[in-house]
Amino acid sequence: MATASASSFISLLLISSLLLASFTEAQKPPVAKGLSWTFYDQSCPKLESIVRKQIQNALKKDIGLAAGLIRIHFHDCFVQGCDGSVLLEGSTSEQNARPNLSLRKEALKFVDDLRARVHKECGRVVSCADILALAARDSVALSGGPNYDLPLGRRDSKTFATVVNLPSPFSNTTVILNDFREKTFNARETVALSGGHTVGLAHCPAFTNRLYPKQDPTLDKTFANNLKKTCPTSDSNNTTVFDIRSPNVFDNKYYVDLMNRQGLLTSDQDLYTDKRTRSIVTSFAVDQSLFFQEFANSMIKMSQLSVLTGKQGEIRAKCSVKNSNNLASVVEDVVEEAWSGII
Ligand SMILES: *[C@@H]1O[C@H](CO)[C@@H](O)[C@H](O)[C@H]1NC(C)=O
Ligand SMILES: *[C@@H]1O[C@H](CO)[C@@H](O)[C@H](O)[C@H]1NC(C)=O
Ligand SMILES: *[C@@H]1O[C@H](CO)[C@@H](O)[C@H](O)[C@H]1NC(C)=O
Ligand SMILES: *[C@@H]1O[C@H](CO)[C@@H](O)[C@H](O)[C@H]1NC(C)=O
Repeated sequence: MATASASSFISLLLISSLLLASFTEAQKPPVAKGLSWTFYDQSCPKLESIVRKQIQNALKKDIGLAAGLIRIHFHDCFVQGCDGSVLLEGSTSEQNARPNLSLRKEALKFVDDLRARVHKECGRVVSCADILALAARDSVALSGGPNYDLPLGRRDSKTFATVVNLPSPFSNTTVILNDFREKTFNARETVALSGGHTVGLAHCPAFTNRLYPKQDPTLDKTFANNLKKTCPTSDSNNTTVFDIRSPNVFDNKYYVDLMNRQGLLTSDQDLYTDKRTRSIVTSFAVDQSLFFQEFANSMIKMSQLSVLTGKQGEIRAKCSVKNSNNLASVVEDVVEEAWSGII
C-alpha cells in the first residue's frame, strides 16, 4: 500500500515535471538573430551567478537600486535598442531624459562595477548591454517578481541617440499605445510592461500636473491630499513611491492601485480609465501569476529590441566610454590583434 502510493507519487512527480518542461519549452519566446540561450556557456559560464550574487548583495543595502536598474534597461532598449547606449557618458540626453525617475548615478556605477567583476572572471567577452539586461532581470526576480531566462549575445553600441523619445508620464492611453506599438508591443504587452511601476520612486514634476492648478478627477481624494503634502509646489524636488501598497515588492499591487484611483502618473491611471485597457488592468490585478507570465514575456521581447550582434558594435572595456575613447582598451585591442597574428 505504502509502496504503491509512493510510486504513484513519484510517477505523478515525473509527469508534472515533464509537463512543466514542455510547458516552459512551448512558452519560450522568439529569439533575435545572433542571440542565444547559451551564448556564454563556454566563454563565461559563471556570468549569471556573478550577476545574481552581486544584485542580491546590493539590494540588501539599497532596495531602490532594483527599480533604477529596471528603468535604465527599459530606457536603453526603448531609445536606440538594447545596446548599452544609455550607459555612455555624454549621452546626457538619454540619461537626463524625462522621466528621469531613477537613472541614478549609483545604478550606472553599479553596472560598471558589475562589468569589472565579470571581466575579471572571464576577460572582456560580455557586453555592458547583456550585463544591464541580466541586472534588470535579477532585480525583478530578487524583489519578488518572476524569474525568467534571457537570450544573450548583445553587443555594445559605439554611438548614442541624440533625440530621445521616451513615453511621457503625461500621455494618455492613446499616445502610450501608439508609442509602444511603434516598438511592436500590443495593448496587453504595453499594460504588462507598465507593471514595472510596482517598484520605485517618481519625482514630483512627473505627476504634479494632476494636482495643480486643478485636481485630476480620476485621482482618489485622500491620495491626492497626501501627494500635495509631499509636493507642496509643482516643481518640488521630493519623490514618492509608485505603488503605495507595497512600494519595494515586485507584485501585482500596482494594478490594484490603478483600480482604486491611486495610480501616480497620468500615463498609469489612464490605463484603467480607458475602456481599451481597463479589462487588462483588472485581469492583472486579480491574477498575479498571469501578470508575471505576461510581464516576463514582454520583458524578454523588449530586451531584444534592435540589438547589435555578431561583429556589430563592440564589447566595451568600460560601460561609460566607447573603446576608441578609452586608451587602455585601444592598447589592449592592439595587443590582442598582435597576438592573434602570431598564433
Ligand atoms: C537626471 O539624473 C541625472 C543623474 O542622476 C542628473 O545628473 C540630472 O540632473 C537629472 N536630470 C533632471 C532633469 O532631473
Ligand atoms: C490623448 O492625447 C492626445 C495628445 O495630447 C490628444 O490629441 C487626444 O485627444 C487625447 N485622447 C483622449 C481620448 O483624451
Ligand atoms: C518634501 O516633503 C515633505 C513631506 O513629506 C514636506 O514637508 C516638504 O515641504 C517637501 N519639500 C519640498 C521642497 O517640496
Ligand atoms: C531642486 O533642486 C535643485 C538643485 O538641487 C534646486 O536648484 C532647486 O531650487 C530645487 N527646487 C525646489 C523647488 O526646491
